[in-house]
Amino acid sequence: MSKTILITGGAGFIAHHAINKILSETDWKIVTLDRLDFSGNLNRLKEVVDTFPLSEQKRVQVVYHDLKAELNPEIAATIGKVDYIAHLAAGSHVDRSISYPLEFVMDNVVGTAHILDYARKLDSLERFAYFSTDEVFGPAPGDIKYKENDRYNSTNPYSATKAGGEELVVAFENTYGLPSIITHTMNVFGERQNPEKYIPMVIKRVRDGEKVTVHANSEKTVAGSRHYIHAEDVSGALLFLLNYNMSQMQPDVTGAKCQKFNIVGKDEIDNLQLAQFIAETQNKELDYEMVDFHSQRPGHDLRYALDGSKMVNMGWSPQSAFNRLESTIKWTLKNNRWLAI
Ligand SMILES: NC(=O)c1ccc[n+]([C@@H]2O[C@H](COP(=O)([O-])OP(=O)(O)OC[C@H]3O[C@@H](n4cnc5c(N)ncnc54)[C@H](O)[C@@H]3O)[C@@H](O)[C@H]2O)c1
Repeated sequence: MSKTILITGGAGFIAHHAINKILSETDWKIVTLDRLDFSGNLNRLKEVVDTFPLSEQKRVQVVYHDLKAELNPEIAATIGKVDYIAHLAAGSHVDRSISYPLEFVMDNVVGTAHILDYARKLDSLERFAYFSTDEVFGPAPGDIKYKENDRYNSTNPYSATKAGGEELVVAFENTYGLPSIITHTMNVFGERQNPEKYIPMVIKRVRDGEKVTVHANSEKTVAGSRHYIHAEDVSGALLFLLNYNMSQMQPDVTGAKCQKFNIVGKDEIDNLQLAQFIAETQNKELDYEMVDFHSQRPGHDLRYALDGSKMVNMGWSPQSAFNRLESTIKWTLKNNRWLAI
């Protein structure tokens, strides 16, 4: 019998790419749960699901639920039997978390507790995957790259709530034996991303002849940088981890059992280089200004960096971001409804 995966946040950016990947590469049934807030858009999911034959489209079921509330027996019955859970639903915008920290606690900490409490009562769950972020480690000065079990140092409420969710996952594994994994993913880009995020925002500003603000150090000489990774690559990593035989994986030297995985893009790209690439792809001059954003606006970090060697040693490697950047920029310009705010 084919497996069923429950993916939370399926109307969001990364999860809709993950659903596309799972529809393409497995015969699994997919149930997705979302509350459709400002960043959740079912048209996003519809666009990718509609590219499959009708018989495949029937494998996707959408359940409306806000994870601030527990999953009651009716919701659980609607979802049915589940083999895997990938928990991606979250408040995901750092700036919003700085303005509304308690909303992020409710969505990302309480919401995670609710899905975990539902998961621990399932009979045959094979794996619970919690989708966290590189931002839990805070800024990475110099050439530091954090490993999976390094210390956390959240610099904004978003990161702290994602780290809080992680610790709940660890506790549910240790307390109830929930078979769990945690991923730390670096900055993701791709088709149908919310235009509040850096890459679609720069695509739009360059298209409209507006100035691009590039976050830099206090001297305004060094632009912030990230290891960008395409959402399809991230979805491949998620599927790889769901299928991976974890039985031989040991706790770390301190006894920490819950396995964590850094999903790292191949290329570290600074935000000026990225803006210039976006302008070149549009055959336009980049009008930009370097701003000392990080010392003026607490909560924004200049550089994030993770060590991706654990996943590489397991047999998963990312594609180069540059391979997908050009096609993402061109796709976004052509499908410009995704640039409307
Ligand atoms: N985008 C990135 O670069 C990135 C990097 C690392 C980790 N992540 C993590 O990946 C996940 C997905 O990120 P994204 O960029 O696709 O986010 P997104 O904002 O595009 O999508 C989030 C989805 O979750 C839903 N949601 C939010 N709160 C909910 C709640 N209480 N109940 C039900 N649904 C709710 C929203 O409606 C939306 O559809 C998040 O957990 C985020 O923390 C994102």
